[in-house]
This record gives sequence, structure tokens and C-alpha cells, in this order.
Amino acid sequence: MSTLLHIDSSVRAATNPNPDHDSISKNVARRFIDTWKQNRPEDEYIYRDVGVNPPAFITQDWIGAVFTPEQDRTPAQQETLALSDTLIAEVSAADVIVISSPMYNYGMPAQLKAWFDQIVRIGKTFDFDLERGDFPLQPLLSGKTLIIVTSSGEFGFEKGGIREESGHLVPHLRTLSKYLGVDTIYEVTAEYQEFGDERHRVSVANAKARAESLASELSLSAPALSSRNEVTDA
Ligand SMILES: Cc1cc2nc3c(=O)[nH]c(=O)nc-3n(C[C@H](O)[C@H](O)[C@H](O)COP(=O)(O)O)c2cc1C
Repeated sequence: MSTLLHIDSSVRAATNPNPDHDSISKNVARRFIDTWKQNRPEDEYIYRDVGVNPPAFITQDWIGAVFTPEQDRTPAQQETLALSDTLIAEVSAADVIVISSPMYNYGMPAQLKAWFDQIVRIGKTFDFDLERGDFPLQPLLSGKTLIIVTSSGEFGFEKGGIREESGHLVPHLRTLSKYLGVDTIYEVTAEYQEFGDERHRVSVANAKARAESLASELSLSAPALSSRNEVTDA
């Protein structure tokens, strides 16, 4: 059995009274999830819509609690870290992580960044040692597969694309993915939403088809998805 963690982050719902307002990234991700569940109904499934229910922003108290040894934390500090503990436990349990994200202002939504800020945490998802020289941070989790689903209004953010230099969404997610314990990444991209033309329709149709075929392919290679790391506190 594997565990699938699904994070949506658009502020738009997947279905609305006016379908033109439906979140594209959520609907593409849903194709992946539906196909996966059809093939592997026994798998654990964890879902969060951080676009609609955003995690709290971290605070100075949060940082203070993180840097207090676990055995010395006050009840208030434990409470401050409770959400972070829960979100990290969900990531830790996951074999496959699906993150769907709209492009907002050329990067990820603040709500998704807030989720990462709760998760990328010293002693939990990375450790820090100056003995390692210029690269003192080391991820503590490993063995996970990440599917990044994105939707953008413009297009050409990929390597070699006409807006490569403005494409901060996927590169940022890729950089952060190592702190989720991700070794393998797949991308599914829908573009052209703001143009509303044939290119947009083709792009969305292709993204949905790719999400389904990727889910079929990966769900049938489950043994490769079974490695999992436990997190320990510092
Ligand atoms: C606040 C906001 C900022 C956006 N910024 C960008 C942007 O920088 N680049 C872009 O290509 N599209 C941008 N868009 C368009 C969205 O990426 C596009 O509508 C996408 O489909 C949203 O994802 P969703 O359909 O899952 O909600 C923006 C949309 C909103 C609402």
C-alpha cells in the first residue's frame, strides 16, 4: 500500500456555477487522483486545499519554538508548532505527492508558500551542519515522487521558452521539493488561460490526458514507490 498526498492551492474552486471560473490546476490534478484511485483503491489518500484553507503564516514565536529543544518547549510553543507537526507528518507518510498550483505573479500562491514554510523545518525535514562547508543544509526525507501540476495565463515559462526568465513557479517548487524528500519529479502544465483560444483548449486537454497517463503509469509501478523515511525530532 502507498500513501498519496494531494495538495491543491488555487483560490478558485474546482467547480463553480460558472464553469469558466473553475480552477484548471485543480481539475487537472483531479484527473491524476481519480485515475490513481481507480487503479489503487486500497492506497491511503490525504488531501489539503491550501488555497481555500490556507495554513497560518509562520511568526517569530514559531521560529523561537522551532529552535527550542523539544523537551524544553512550553505547552504554548508545542501548540505553535502543532500545525507544522501535522503537515510534516502528512509529507513524511507520503510516497507520492501531487501539488497543483496556479501561477500567481510569476510564482506560487502565498498560501502554498505558507504550507512550505510550515514544513521546511530544522530537525524535522532538514538538518544543518557547518562541517558540510558551503552547503550546510541536508534534507532528512527521501524516496518520494512529486507530480507538479501548474496552470498559467501566459505561456513559455519552460527552459528555452519565451518567458523562461519569468518562470519562478516550477523552479521554486523543484528547489523546495528536496525538503519534502522528493527524488523524482514529473510536471504537468496547462498554459494560455488568459488567451482563451484554441491553444488554451489544446493545452488543457493535453494536461488532463498527461495527468491520466502519468497516473496509470506510476500507479502500476508501485514497488518503486514504497521507500519511506520517518522524521525524527532534533
Ligand atoms: C492573482 C493572479 C495572478 C496571476 N499571475 C499570473 C502570472 O504572473 N503569470 C501568468 O501567466 N498567469 C497569471 N495569472 C493567471 C493564472 O495563472 C491562471 O488564471 C491560472 O489558470 C490560475 O490557476 P487555476 O485555474 O487553477 O485557478 C494570475 C491570476 C491571478 C488570479
